[in-house]
Amino acid sequence: MRRSTKTGEGRSGETPTHLRPWYNSRVARVLMVSSEAAPLAKTGGLADVVGALPGALREAGCEAAVVIPRYGSIPLKDLRRVYDHLPVYLGPVGFDVSIYQAPADYPLYLIECPKLFDRPGFYGEEGVDYPDNHIRFAVFARAALGVARRLFSPDVLHCHDWQSGLVPAYLRTLLAGDPTFMGIKTLFTIHNLGYQGRFPLEALEEVALDAKVFHPDGLEFFGQVSYIKSGISFSDALSTVSPTYAREIQTPEFGCGLDGALRARAAVLSGILNGVDYAIWSPETDREIPAHFSALDLSGKRAVKAQLLAEMGLPAEAIERPLLGIVSRFTEQKGIDLVAAVAGEIVAEDVYVVALGNGEPKYEDPVGAMAGRFPGRVAVRIGYDNRLSHFIHAGADIFLMPSRYEPCGLSQIYSLRYGTVPVVRATGGLDDTIEESTGFKFQEYSGAALLGAVRAAIQAYSSPEEWRETMLRGMRKDFSWKASAREYAALYGRLSGRG
Ligand code: ADP
Ligand code: GLC
Repeated sequence: MRRSTKTGEGRSGETPTHLRPWYNSRVARVLMVSSEAAPLAKTGGLADVVGALPGALREAGCEAAVVIPRYGSIPLKDLRRVYDHLPVYLGPVGFDVSIYQAPADYPLYLIECPKLFDRPGFYGEEGVDYPDNHIRFAVFARAALGVARRLFSPDVLHCHDWQSGLVPAYLRTLLAGDPTFMGIKTLFTIHNLGYQGRFPLEALEEVALDAKVFHPDGLEFFGQVSYIKSGISFSDALSTVSPTYAREIQTPEFGCGLDGALRARAAVLSGILNGVDYAIWSPETDREIPAHFSALDLSGKRAVKAQLLAEMGLPAEAIERPLLGIVSRFTEQKGIDLVAAVAGEIVAEDVYVVALGNGEPKYEDPVGAMAGRFPGRVAVRIGYDNRLSHFIHAGADIFLMPSRYEPCGLSQIYSLRYGTVPVVRATGGLDDTIEESTGFKFQEYSGAALLGAVRAAIQAYSSPEEWRETMLRGMRKDFSWKASAREYAALYGRLSGRG
């Protein structure tokens, strides 16, 4: 279906009043716009956050819904079609969009546009981005606003990362003055400043954005169109996923060129630490692991370790020695190059390593090569495997996360819960979540510094009582969503005047 109108969204008087029964309610209604939500669409922690936060928000007194794209990997048969032929136009170009709803504890909407999203990857294939990502996520932003108009009328649009960065720009330009959106506030959460959604200047016209947004205080970034900068410049409030990362991104070292733009908006930028969903990530109940355990009875952890060693083809006698685990995207961010650089020195400590991850060949290859260099000592799976990720978090003794930068990081928090003691670089959320009493931290981004922390952990492992206490302190930490959901609820309340 095509229609030649500039906005396609701008008609007033078509919002049925039954969409606004909460008009006098004190409860803030929030529509989250995200490219991922677990379990349906996940490449990393963003999905875990968006999958868990709505439930926690309900307990904090908010009503939350989520909208994501319907990727090819999400079977249509499990979904219910709730809106046909949503008019979405980028200038004169129309897109055939429908909206589906997935079974979930909260309203979870999926934008169906086969031409754009029914593909094998979310953002690209074999490490190469789709060339029309600017169109894909512009249509997604417009369709998400369609959800806000027709299906779930929010007080706050909570946008996550660059894929939703155009939502506030459209609200401020094309839809400014549209009564449906009057008074709606926007919160933009940065999960990772390293991914910015940058496109050539020509993209501006293709996605029907007014040229007036293309300036340094808008979405212009060194002559390009930046979707993340759009979110930063045009949202009412900004947040990121840990207090330390909120400070770091305002410095040239961590700002990825956007530190100036972020400093300019420091008054509305806060850091709210991610929580974790212990219904999914707990050694007592985890459905993905072969034995269960708890802080009161650790015996099942040995059984999990034994099966993990067998599954990864490592020798059974490794059960008596420290097993180091890695679950990560293999990208520049994650510091995996440090591990490859000192792998020889690490295994010389008579320890074993299991690693799971995928990402860029530049980082996958050296990790994959470690298995060949140290057969029987290092086992590697290149790929994405949810079950194995739980298995490693639960079965390893030490979890390695030597990130170059880390906005929050969930994997180290999951590991704490499974008594798998983290060795982390003291950056971003890793610094905020791991203490000297629960893990091992190093400062400098170097193989030597990583090795020093790994050796300290191995040394501690050799004192069983000391080690057990460290495990238990980590297992008893509470990083559930409760406190952070309250912080989000308070922020929505301040923005919207509700709640
Ligand atoms: P990031 O979002 O930067 O990747 P986080 O630590 O916040 O880092 O979240 C990573 C999430 O993705 C965790 O749930 C982790 O278990 C999962 N994960 C990462 N790599 C893989 C993989 N190769 N297979 C399965 N799960 C993975
Ligand atoms: C990003 C960050 C990670 C964070 C996750 C969820 O992918 O790299 O640190 O935990 O988003 O917020």
